[in-house]
Amino acid sequence: MGPIVLLVLGISCLLLFSIWRENFGRRKLPPGPTPFPIIGNILQLDIKDITKSLINFSKVYGPVFTLYFGMKPTVVLYGYEAVKEALTDHGEEFSGRGKVPVVDKVNKGLGIVFSNGHRWKEMRRFALMTLRNFGMGKRSIEERVQEEARCLVEELRKTNGSPCDPTFILGCAPCNVICSIVFQNRFDYKDQNLLNLMEKLEEGAKIVSSPWMQIYNLFPCLIHYVPGSHKTIAINSEYVNSYILKKVKEHEESLDVNNPRDFIDCFLIKMKQEQENHKEPLEFTKENLTVVTSDLFGAGTETTSTTLRYGLLLLMKYPHVTAKVKEEIDHVIGRHRSPCMQDRSQMPYTDAVIHEIQRYIDLLPMNLPHAVTRDIKFRGYLIPKGTTILTSLTSVLHDHKEFPNPEMFDPGHFLDKSGNFKKSDYFMPFSSGKRTCVGEGLARMELFLFLTTILQNFNLKALMDPQDLDTRPVVNGIVSVPPSYQLCFLPV
Ligand code: HEM
Ligand SMILES: *[C@@H]1O[C@H](CO)[C@@H](O)[C@H](O)[C@H]1NC(C)=O
Ligand SMILES: *[C@@H]1O[C@H](CO)[C@@H](O)[C@H](O)[C@H]1NC(C)=O
Repeated sequence: MGPIVLLVLGISCLLLFSIWRENFGRRKLPPGPTPFPIIGNILQLDIKDITKSLINFSKVYGPVFTLYFGMKPTVVLYGYEAVKEALTDHGEEFSGRGKVPVVDKVNKGLGIVFSNGHRWKEMRRFALMTLRNFGMGKRSIEERVQEEARCLVEELRKTNGSPCDPTFILGCAPCNVICSIVFQNRFDYKDQNLLNLMEKLEEGAKIVSSPWMQIYNLFPCLIHYVPGSHKTIAINSEYVNSYILKKVKEHEESLDVNNPRDFIDCFLIKMKQEQENHKEPLEFTKENLTVVTSDLFGAGTETTSTTLRYGLLLLMKYPHVTAKVKEEIDHVIGRHRSPCMQDRSQMPYTDAVIHEIQRYIDLLPMNLPHAVTRDIKFRGYLIPKGTTILTSLTSVLHDHKEFPNPEMFDPGHFLDKSGNFKKSDYFMPFSSGKRTCVGEGLARMELFLFLTTILQNFNLKALMDPQDLDTRPVVNGIVSVPPSYQLCFLPV
């Protein structure tokens, strides 16, 4: 063998080694199960129940590990310490949103939920400001939710105490709250505009969290050519957007710059200011308004209605808990006026029950996907910019030291020995840090006002012995939903 052949062989070996190290060595990413070429770890995961799979992997690899969804590495953070360290202590670096190709096609990187960088910051800041209780002119958000609570009770009264599945009615109320905030007015529960909107949103949520969609997100370039439910998403989003645009036109015609009536008005005013200041490029455009508005519907409807529906199931299963909440309602609010947010500070037990509902049901077990905004060293590992980060909220909400018997529904998890409300840093159903839910204040207001108004007016009656009610979640992709059930609303 001549020296040249040796040299060529040597260089080839070095090259191969460096490619191997780059792609498969993963020396600096956190440990994890060995991925197969192309498909990664998906055969080692239960796609229908990823949460369970994460528990298993964390037992083997610890609180920080890497999984390959297809060829894309995803770093999973498991347990309070790791989740808090990332979302809070390294908030800026972990504030990116993980790529969800099916949504990117539709949103084009605009809006809040799935946007990144400068756009995300601008839109998020605007939404937070506007959603503050007095951000939108004369009618406070609290009044809007109270109005909806009264209508909700009237609608429930119409069931005449006969058995019903509450899914539909409990879906209308949160959707209507967003309508009231963005369009100024709520709709009647029979209004076709509301029904269409709800239908499209519900279908969208179902598809986005389906196992099929997880596959699509792994191989978007391939499956784009296959007809399937991802096309329905585009069609539905087109429908919602054109409806919003129609509403925006109406708003433009009746806009009074000194009297904003709702979210759209506030946005239009901001648009005008930008144009008058000749700001270039324009940040607040109608296209952005449409996407932000549909984000509020997408993020604020199913989440809240599923929590309410799950909450009623739990209240039915534990009548002694419900009795204590009713006692507090009688004592603090009485029968003759609507509950308001000020009441909450005098109702520690009710507050604890609502926290416990959110903790127990663990609505978004894996949070929404994050991404790191730059290369970052985390616990001795090097995570490259853009890597998807999954934070297990289950591991925080069901931590067995902070919440003894985490699988039990027990409002005592949020009460001290003398019955005062006890805060917990582990209460993270809305996530934590820079991406934390924009609608947290609104959602907590809805949960408090809707649940207390319902219990002020009705007794909940199960169709079977409450002890036999099944309250385990039906895992459904990225959200956990309650098993379907019926109940009777008996007027008090
Ligand atoms: C019980 C009800 C709700 C729960 C449990 C919930 C939970 C969450 C969670 C876990 C996230 C992801 C945070 C992260 O990426 O770290 C999120 C984001 C978001 N939520 Fe909520 N949410 C609820 C209701 C609402 C409501 C009513 C609104 C409407 C205003 C809303 C608007 C948003 C928005 C705009 C985001 C995206 C924030 C961002 O990416 O910067 N949510 N929510
Ligand atoms: C998790 O581990 C348990 C026991 O080791 C096993 O029975 C179960 O199938 C695993 N679940 C998943 C989703 O991997
Ligand atoms: C608003 O939308 C335009 C495109 O219509 C885009 O160039 C701009 O970056 C967006 N601004 C924000 C803050 O999202």
